[in-house]
Amino acid sequence: MDDSDLIKQAETALDSAYVPYSEYRVGAAIETDDGTVFTGCNIETANYSNSLHAEEIAVGTAVAAGHQSFSRLAVVSSARDGVTPCGMCRQTLAEFCNEELRILCAVEDGIEAYTLGALLPAAISRDTLENA
Ligand code: THU
Ligand code: ZN
Repeated sequence: MDDSDLIKQAETALDSAYVPYSEYRVGAAIETDDGTVFTGCNIETANYSNSLHAEEIAVGTAVAAGHQSFSRLAVVSSARDGVTPCGMCRQTLAEFCNEELRILCAVEDGIEAYTLGALLPAAISRDTLENA
């Protein structure tokens, strides 16, 4: 599967977004090391603060299905504005992925690629706590 196929899966997920408050649709698709793909979309609630992010749903669904090793993540918004995972989602990704994780973000005319290490340098980790 190439990068644009993973972006397409994120785009399909975005159709299910529940966003009555922001009207900002986000879709995510995460690929496991064995090539399985799990997707997610954002789901908002009336108190705003516990809205679920597309990446959280994708990672959470994968982990619930028994997967904990990932190689690539694609994220897209309906605006194709190059949305990247927010800080909270970056930290969630860092729990299961190393700094080499490829993060693909859809822009109007293509794909911007990052690594998790570039988006979240010097992250707190299990090691940080074990060295307390
Ligand atoms: N959103 C995500 O789904 N993922 C992110 O990492 C960035 C933000 C959602 C949350 C909210 O429903 C909308 O985008 C606007 O912040
Ligand atoms: Zn987020």
